[in-house]
Amino acid sequence: MKKLSWGVIGAGGIADRRTLPGMMLAKNASLAAVMEIEAGPAETLRKKYNAAKAYTSVEELLADPVVEAVYIASPVSAHYKQALAAAEAGKHILIEKPVALSLDEGKELVKICAEKKLQFSAGFMMRFHPCHRELREIISGGGLGKIVSLRAQLTCWYPEIPGAWRQDPALSGGGALMDMGIHCIDLLQYLTGSRAVRVSALIGTRIFSYAVDDSASLIMEFENGAHAFVDAFFNIPDDASENRLEIYGTGGCALAAGTIGQTGGGSCSLVYSNPGGYNKNQNREESRGRQNLSWTEVNPYTLEIESFGDSLLNGNKPEVPAKEALQVQRVIACAYKAARENRTVEIPSG
Ligand SMILES: NC(=O)c1ccc[n+]([C@@H]2O[C@H](COP(=O)([O-])OP(=O)(O)OC[C@H]3O[C@@H](n4cnc5c(N)ncnc54)[C@H](O)[C@@H]3O)[C@@H](O)[C@H]2O)c1
Repeated sequence: MKKLSWGVIGAGGIADRRTLPGMMLAKNASLAAVMEIEAGPAETLRKKYNAAKAYTSVEELLADPVVEAVYIASPVSAHYKQALAAAEAGKHILIEKPVALSLDEGKELVKICAEKKLQFSAGFMMRFHPCHRELREIISGGGLGKIVSLRAQLTCWYPEIPGAWRQDPALSGGGALMDMGIHCIDLLQYLTGSRAVRVSALIGTRIFSYAVDDSASLIMEFENGAHAFVDAFFNIPDDASENRLEIYGTGGCALAAGTIGQTGGGSCSLVYSNPGGYNKNQNREESRGRQNLSWTEVNPYTLEIESFGDSLLNGNKPEVPAKEALQVQRVIACAYKAARENRTVEIPSG
């Protein structure tokens, strides 16, 4: 099988924790080079993942002719410059979320990649979770009727850490919403095939002393009329984090816990309903027929890498089109604006 040859920029964080192990299992990927800012870690990662080269500068990695595509997993403030350089060097780009500090930077990257006929995709690997893929099928097939309400939640415990780039708005672009709520927004838009058109938001820093948000709650209206709720918090202990996904329609609901996250695990139950007439007694427990959704656990990062490669090698439609990655960034920008101005903000389409 033809393999796509990858270079990884910022290989020591999520790349080492999740994406590189996932890439090692991908059928159509080979790792040509890793880049880290210091030589020691770069060489350690090269050995760990059996890459041909270890670099300490982006320029060196981009000059490597064996590298066809880059996975950029550096801190967000470095994304724009590095992706721009990658595009100039003719490399296809899979970039971690958020694609850039601002929507304008993201737009420019997408435009340049389109002009150069390079693939540009964002790291929304939760689209590849088998449960989410099944739910997308069920929803598009009308299995839950007309979707009226959606909720996606992602929370963790993230206390003050001196020097952490995520806690500095100039380096991260935002806190819980930018870092975690972004996955939730993308997932709800992906699952429904609809987009958020209006947003209201409460965003603030309630528990910690850093300058980014540790609490973000969004209410959105989707184009299909559904109401969508996203809650992203940095101040809920990990063992109290449920990471709920809830989808309600006129024909039932899907309730998941733990599928929003970095693994292919979690659980999900479905209720298919034929409501019939009005039930004055509201005998809910009697009428409920819950079914558990089961799936074979796979590594979503492996599927993300395989899918990116597949669209380049076999011409299949990219699973995370650049336009959709930008749309999520647009929702985030409007949500911060809505919170700042204490009003509902219309979200333009791209
Ligand atoms: N999709 C996911 O599951 C997921 C999870 C976590 C983080 N992320 C995203 O991945 C990106 C990185 O986050 P992280 O948690 O890995 O951060 P991190 O700080 O843990 O790791 C970043 C790595 O990049 C290196 N680095 C620092 N400055 C660099 C530069 N200028 N050029 C190249 N490398 C540099 C660091 O040495 C470090 O090894 C962010 O965009 C983040 O939002 C995605």
